[in-house]
Amino acid sequence: MSGPEGNNKPVITSADLDHGVEMGKINDGYFSNPAMAQSFLEIAVAPLMEDLGSAVEYASFGGGEGYLPALVVQAIRECGREVDGLVVDANPDFLHLAQARGLRTQCGDLEEVVLSGLDLITMRSVNHYNAPDAQRRILERCLAALKPGGWCISQNLSGPSEAYCRLASDLSRIPELGRVDEQQDRPHITSQAEFNGFMEDVGFANVRVAGLAPDIIIGPAYYWARFNGKAHAEAVSRNDAASLEALREREQHYLRRANELIDAFLVAAAPGEAGLIKQAGSSYSIPLHFPIHMGRCPAIGEGG
Ligand SMILES: C[S@@+](CC[C@H](N)C(=O)[O-])C[C@H]1O[C@@H](n2cnc3c(N)ncnc32)[C@H](O)[C@@H]1O
Repeated sequence: MSGPEGNNKPVITSADLDHGVEMGKINDGYFSNPAMAQSFLEIAVAPLMEDLGSAVEYASFGGGEGYLPALVVQAIRECGREVDGLVVDANPDFLHLAQARGLRTQCGDLEEVVLSGLDLITMRSVNHYNAPDAQRRILERCLAALKPGGWCISQNLSGPSEAYCRLASDLSRIPELGRVDEQQDRPHITSQAEFNGFMEDVGFANVRVAGLAPDIIIGPAYYWARFNGKAHAEAVSRNDAASLEALREREQHYLRRANELIDAFLVAAAPGEAGLIKQAGSSYSIPLHFPIHMGRCPAIGEGG
């Protein structure tokens, strides 16, 4: 496996960095939960074990704090294989934690990563940070990094329809939230068909959704706490009434715009979809599906 060490901090991850997001703690601890990781291992990694040779070159793209990649490495070792585990991510704060879990790390933008000779790439909850074109480019980088016959697994936030995915994306892009400061098509949550299409377009074979990991819950209150909780706690500790008032006003604007989007969605939604969204305090909670997509790098001569 080879690849240059990068040190750039793309804007893609600056919202997490600036707001001090601790990935293992958000979404009720989903990303550091053993049961959630186990479903990823059972649905996607265990069925590939026979395909993996005795020495496995493995990289987690967007592997963040390294919780899941460390368990993937452990599962491969428990099957009697040697394994080299690398985490590539743009967030250096997360990568320090991945190093502490015994993983090699590389800091950089997945759109630019140049690796080769990999047997397995995993991603969980990574693609949606990126606009659709960037998601395709990342998949191209994955394909280029895999050996013929190697596998890419991507567990993605999703929903039962394009409109549902669009609602979830739009809620995390309202400017008052402070996640993005420009109008781009990201975060972009994909439907299953859309992401399978991306994998097929770039040349993966055997593209499929292997199964569903447990749902994850988002909503306006969750997004607000994720991107403004640190500023709020700091203002409280400084006893800074002006900042607290400014935050409160911005939160009201955010919640009003978020609720308008959700109400408009609910008016037009099919009953099955509308029924998933529940009133929560002054807003709503919204479950997202978490399909696990898989695709294989075609063997030489097999074509895409
Ligand atoms: C929601 S977190 C999930 C982390 C980890 N995969 C897990 O399951 O715990 C998404 C991660 O993807 C990384 N990421 C998303 N897009 C990226 C890109 N274009 N380049 C580098 N890292 C990216 C983020 O920095 C973040 O660490």
